[in-house]
Amino acid sequence: MPSALASLPERILLGPGPSNVHPRVMRALSAPVVGHLDPAFISVMEELKGLLRKVFCTKNEFAVPLSGTGSAGMEAALANVIEPADSVIVCINGVFGTRMKEIAERCGANVVTVEAPWGSSIDAGDVERALKATPGVKLVAFVHAETSTGVLQPVDDICRLAHEHGALILADAVTSLGGAPVLTDDWGLDIVYSGTQKCLSCPPGLAPVTFNERALDVIRRRKTKVQSWYLDATMLMRYWGEERVYHHTAPISMNYALCEALRLVLEEGLEARWKRHVRNHRALVAGIEAMGLSMAVNDAVRAPMLNAVVVPDGIDEKRVRRSMLDGMNVEIGAGLGPLAGKIWRIGLMGYSSKPENVLTCLSALNAALREQGKRCPNGLNAAIDAFQMD
Ligand SMILES: Cc1ncc(COP(=O)(O)O)c(C=O)c1O
Repeated sequence: MPSALASLPERILLGPGPSNVHPRVMRALSAPVVGHLDPAFISVMEELKGLLRKVFCTKNEFAVPLSGTGSAGMEAALANVIEPADSVIVCINGVFGTRMKEIAERCGANVVTVEAPWGSSIDAGDVERALKATPGVKLVAFVHAETSTGVLQPVDDICRLAHEHGALILADAVTSLGGAPVLTDDWGLDIVYSGTQKCLSCPPGLAPVTFNERALDVIRRRKTKVQSWYLDATMLMRYWGEERVYHHTAPISMNYALCEALRLVLEEGLEARWKRHVRNHRALVAGIEAMGLSMAVNDAVRAPMLNAVVVPDGIDEKRVRRSMLDGMNVEIGAGLGPLAGKIWRIGLMGYSSKPENVLTCLSALNAALREQGKRCPNGLNAAIDAFQMD
C-alpha cells in the first residue's frame, strides 16, 4: 500500500505556523545522528546556547532549547517559578493568554487576569490596577505576539510596572522571536520562551527559553519541587551546563535544525530580518485594503508576522481556505474562539515572509473569492507599489 508520506504536497505555508522551512535547515536534519553526550553533540549544544543568546538579545547564561513545542516552553516558564498559592497576573487577549492561565492554575497559582477584547492589546493601566489590588504578585505573564488575533503587545510599560511591584515578567515570544524585536535584556524580561516553527522557520519540536538570574534565583529558592519533572529547569541546567548529567535524550536532529535556523537568522541580521517582516506585512495590508477587504487589528498594534483579515459578509470562509489550498497550494489559517468564522489569519513568518508569497497569497485569495461571486478589485498593484515605495 502506498504510504501517505509519498503524496505530501509542497505547500506555501502562510498560516499561523508552521512556516516553510529553509532548505539549509532541512539538510541539517539529515546530518548523522550522534549520541546525546557525544563531544560532537556537546559542541552543537554550546553553539546553540550562544546563538540563542544572540537571537533573544540577552547575556543570560540560561538560554536553551527545550524538547517540546511552544506549549512546553509555556509550561516550563510558568511551572518553574510558580509554587502553590502564589499570586500571578496573566494578561489575556486571545487563545494563548487563556492557555497560560490554565497552566498557571494547574501549578496551583492564584491567578488574576487582566483582559482585553480579542484583537486589542492589553492596557498597561489595567495591569497597574491589578498589581495594586493584588498583594505580593510573583509573576506577570503576557503574550508578545498573540497568534490568535495578530496583536503585537507593547511591552515597555508592562515590564516596568511588574518590576516596580517586585514581580517577575514573563513573555511568550513563540510567534515574535526572529520576526520582530524581542529585546530580552533591554526590556528587562525575566523569562522568555518561543517555538521553532514560526519566524525561526524550523520544523515544530523545540521551545527555546531563557531565564535571567532573577528568575533563576526564584527557582533556586523554591520550597516545593517543580511540578513537572521533564521541564524542571534545575535538572535541565545540569545537562545543558558543565556537568552534562543525563536527564532525557535530546532530540538530536531537531537541535541540528534549530542550530542551522538560528545561524540563518544571524546571517541575515536581526534588524534586517525585522525590517523584512514589516515590509512584507505592509505590502500585504496594502493589497488586502486595495481589494476592499479590511484588517481586523488596529494599525498601531499589528503583528507584522500574523495578519488578521476580516471575512467579508456572505463569504464561506472555510471554502475560501480550501480553495486556496487545493487551487494554489497556499495555506492560510482560520480564526479561533470568538473570531472563528470572522477572520482569516495570514502568516508571513520567517522563510515564508517574502514578496512572491505576498503576491501569490493576494492572487489566491482573489481567485477564491471570485469563486463565491465576490469580484474584488485587484490588490496586486497596491502591494507592488508598497514594495517599490519602501
Ligand atoms: C503565541 C503562542 N504561544 C504558544 C503557542 C503554542 O505552541 P505549540 O503549538 O508549538 O505548542 C503558540 C502556537 O501557535 C503560539 O502562537
